[in-house]
Amino acid sequence: MKKKVIYPGSFDPLTNGHLDIIIRTSKIFDTVIVAVAKENVEKSFLFDAVTRKKLIEKSVSHLKNVKVEIFEGLLVEFAIKQKSKIIVRGLRVLSDFEYEFRMALMNRKLNDKVTTIFMMPNEKYTHIGSSLIKEVGMLGGKIDDYIPKQILLEVKNKINEKKST
Ligand code: PNS
Repeated sequence: MKKKVIYPGSFDPLTNGHLDIIIRTSKIFDTVIVAVAKENVEKSFLFDAVTRKKLIEKSVSHLKNVKVEIFEGLLVEFAIKQKSKIIVRGLRVLSDFEYEFRMALMNRKLNDKVTTIFMMPNEKYTHIGSSLIKEVGMLGGKIDDYIPKQILLEVKNKINEKKST
């Protein structure tokens, strides 16, 4: 049976750490759906959902079994709609664990048919995340090593635009 996995997140913006997880996942599963959260009650995004989706599409265009979709509402409901029972999340450092553990258990409580699995990115990405990259970029630091090259200019331009407002 063909296996489809959902890789959800905010991706504001996609980082090389995210891309590392997508590549690893695409080698194991038949299809990977990168699920871009339209909104998050706890976050205000720099990029709107359509732009976040486009940035991911540009970065994964060489991966033929990866698709990108925007979702809203419960993640487990999106997974079922996509006919997938597997969610993959990246784990970088121990401090990610508590949040991920609670989210995975809540998702399991919401729908026991959907299972969350975890994957570790390459260790060179364990200290990075979208928020830290945005902070460093806003303060004039170099972010080139952390953002896929296909979207680096667009990300830098948006950060600079935000800086000047
Ligand atoms: O990249 P992030 O911000 O850590 O991703 C978090 C995300 C989008 C995976 C999470 O907030 C989510 O699943 N949101 C959808 C709403 C939902 O299902 N909430 C209950 C999850 S326990």
